[in-house]
Amino acid sequence: MNIIVTGAAGFIGSEIALRLLREGHSVTGIDCFTPYYDVKLKEDRAARLAAFPNFRLARSRVEDNETMERVFDRVRPDVILHFAAQAGVRYSLDHPREYIDANVVGSFNIIDLARRHKARHLILASTSSAYGANQKFPFEERDSAPYPLTIYAATKLAAELIAHSHSHLYGVPTTALRFFSVYGPWGRPDMAFFLFTDKIFKGQPIDVFNNGDLLRDFTYIDDLVESIRRLMDVPPQQGNHMIRGDSLSPVAPYRLVNIGHAAPVRLMDYIEAIEDSIGRTAVKNMLGMQPGDVQQTYADVRLLKALTGYTPNTDYREGIAKFVDWYKSYYNPA
Ligand SMILES: NC(=O)c1ccc[n+]([C@@H]2O[C@H](COP(=O)([O-])OP(=O)(O)OC[C@H]3O[C@@H](n4cnc5c(N)ncnc54)[C@H](O)[C@@H]3O)[C@@H](O)[C@H]2O)c1
Repeated sequence: MNIIVTGAAGFIGSEIALRLLREGHSVTGIDCFTPYYDVKLKEDRAARLAAFPNFRLARSRVEDNETMERVFDRVRPDVILHFAAQAGVRYSLDHPREYIDANVVGSFNIIDLARRHKARHLILASTSSAYGANQKFPFEERDSAPYPLTIYAATKLAAELIAHSHSHLYGVPTTALRFFSVYGPWGRPDMAFFLFTDKIFKGQPIDVFNNGDLLRDFTYIDDLVESIRRLMDVPPQQGNHMIRGDSLSPVAPYRLVNIGHAAPVRLMDYIEAIEDSIGRTAVKNMLGMQPGDVQQTYADVRLLKALTGYTPNTDYREGIAKFVDWYKSYYNPA
């Protein structure tokens, strides 16, 4: 297959691109290497991809429509994985415009090019944050989600809705994936698992929000990649419901799918697993709830299971141990 992966130098984009390259597909990555976090880590991820002859990279912003048109005309993609985004819940409080540009304008460009190129399947990265202030657990794809708590969540919901209307009008088979706190080797330095590990190695205190009273449905990266890979082969078809609770739109070949472990972990247990893997105890700076944060995330994964026969299954202690091993080999901490 000819595949475009936007955000290919990112954590998730690089891991799925690697999987597809190993399978022998032609992959074109698009990424503008934003300085949101350590650009060297992005360059190193991209270098792993560049080792494959079936990989090409376009260094561009997804908002740059002229460049996107040129890349799509050249590649003529069968499948598009749109993972480029300004990610991060907390950063969105101070930098809202970056989210509008990348996640709304940029996503529209990619969604519209999927239409023009009659892609077989457009896959969009969305987020558990889309469920916002919902209090019904686990979060089910068909739950209405009208209460986003941050600009990040609002822009991701906007991209889902734009994709739905294009899917309805032009028939583009589209799957929007709601990811739940993804962690693992080559992960994102702005996320809790990475920050905690980094600070514990450096002997610095870690910030523990809501006094540790948070539950997160942590999803290991390899499980996420396996789920995405299987979903790529199941483009939605209008009217073809897979289970009773299918989120398939009644008016478009469009569905939403949660990808999570479906086993929320208490933040303090997660921290303990990191401490155990490192062999040091963290100095904890207990703080209140952060603005825009939610107390719990929890994925209903029955639809993922029905579509793919698979659900994430890596225990968080095992996943954390693998991440800490990678951190040690990459950073060589004292
Ligand atoms: N990691 C998670 O836990 C998680 C959870 C929910 C949703 N997501 C979503 O999954 C996707 C991938 O997330 P990630 O964790 O790999 O993040 P990431 O920041 O590591 O990857 C995103 C990549 O997109 C690139 N990018 C950002 N803005 C761009 C733009 N305007 N044009 C081109 N490239 C741009 C960045 O340089 C980066 O390499 C994102 O859409 C994110 O919102 C991630």
